[in-house]
Order: sequence, then C-alpha cells, then structure tokens
Amino acid sequence: MIIKKKILGGIFLIIGTIAVSCNNVPNSPGWEYMPDMYRSSSYETNSDNPNFSDSLTDRKPVAGTISQGWFPNSEFTSLKVPYPYKNDSAGYEDAGKNLKDPFPASPEIISQGKEKFEKYCIHCHGATGQGDGTVVTAGNFPPPPAYNGASLKNLPEGKMFHTLQYGKNMMGSHASQLTVEDRWKIIRYVQTLQNPGGVASAPADTTKKKI
Ligand code: HEC
Repeated sequence: MIIKKKILGGIFLIIGTIAVSCNNVPNSPGWEYMPDMYRSSSYETNSDNPNFSDSLTDRKPVAGTISQGWFPNSEFTSLKVPYPYKNDSAGYEDAGKNLKDPFPASPEIISQGKEKFEKYCIHCHGATGQGDGTVVTAGNFPPPPAYNGASLKNLPEGKMFHTLQYGKNMMGSHASQLTVEDRWKIIRYVQTLQNPGGVASAPADTTKKKI
C-alpha cells in the first residue's frame, strides 16, 4: 500500500510539473521550468512601450533631479546643486574666487587630510609635495610642480578644489574617488606643504600686542 501511494504521488508530481512548465509562448521549446526567469514580465530596456504616449520604455528623470553624491554632498554648505563651475578657465578662476574650505586648519583636520593624501596623492606629488612621488621617480611621468614652488605657493584653495573635481592636464579627476569633505580635508593638508611654516595659511594673530 505504502509503495503504491508513493508511486501514485510520483506520477502526480510529474504530471503537475509538466502542467506548470508548459506554456503557450511562441517559439518556446515547450519545456520551461520557471518561465518567468526566461521571459521577464517587465519591459526590456530600450523596448517599445504601449503605456507611454512617446512609446519609449526609457524614462527621463523627473525635472530637477540631482544624482546622489553630486557636489556638494555635505552639510557644510547651503548649495545643493551639481558642481557649479564649468571645466574651463573661467570656471577655474571663479572657483578660485568663490569656493572656501569649510573645515578649519586644525591639527585634527590636517591629520585626516594627510591620511587621505598618502593614499591618493603621494605617489605623484611625493611626501612633501615636491613632485617626486614614486610614479615620477620610476620614470615616464612628468613631475608635478612643487606645492611650495613659485607657481603653486599661492594657489587658492578653490582652484585646488576645481582641479580635484575635473583634473588638470596630466592629473586626472579625483571626484569619483573622494567625497567633497575628503577633498577639502586634503586641501587643508596640502596647504601645510604649500607653506611649510604655516605662514600664508594660518590666520594673522591680531590678539598679540607689539612690545
Ligand atoms: C597621476 C599623478 C597625480 C596624482 C595621483 C595626483 N596628482 Fe595632482 N598633479 C599632477 C600633475 C602632473 C599636476 C600638474 C598639472 C598641470 O598644471 O599641468 C598636478 C597638479 C596638482 C595641483 C595644482 C593644481 C592647479 O590648479 O594648478 C594640486 C593642488 C594637486 N595636483 C593636488 C593633488 C591632490 C590633492 C591629489 C590627491 C587627491 C593629487 N593631486 C593627485 C599629478 C597627480
């Protein structure tokens, strides 16, 4: 009896499987297990779509949509828009005038910036920003100018940010690797290499009286 029941159960199982796996889809081999895995019920990318008047499945983002992570993604600034300066010389100049580092030049921020610098910049710019990183000393890569050299010593922080956003000549953009916050922290560290004595980056001390 038990064996008969088992055989009967097995037959039902086979019939059931055949019943659910057959379908009437044209060009079907006729034996599909889980047909929804072969034939998605959603519309394929770039396919026609009868549900929209323009018959396109691909939709545009809602007007005013800003992708996550666009500049500036921090609470340090009220701007919540894509990076506002164009990748041209006018944009570079405007960024230099208008963008300000939201972080103080405190030892804590500088050391956080240093940590990132040593991961993302040191191999080209070198530990002290002289343009003698290992990529350069190994040959085949032109040395970047020294941060404390004549051309970069007084480079404003906004221009640095602009260069990190878009890259400049042989230096690539770092916008996808580093958050806005990380970039500003690194800039605080770069400033200590621009002016190793802290002369230009430290605010003038007006509390001391001349004796
Ligand atoms: C692949 C090598 C390379 C890497 C990595 C690199 N740089 Fe540069 N960087 C350069 C070169 C080359 C220049 C010179 C660009 C020029 O003016 O033609 C430069 C220029 C600069 C300047 C001057 C920009 C200006 O506006 O004149 C700054 C500031 C700077 N880099 C900071 C950084 C920081 C910070 C990082 C790390 C987040 C970094 N760089 C990573 C190669 C690199």
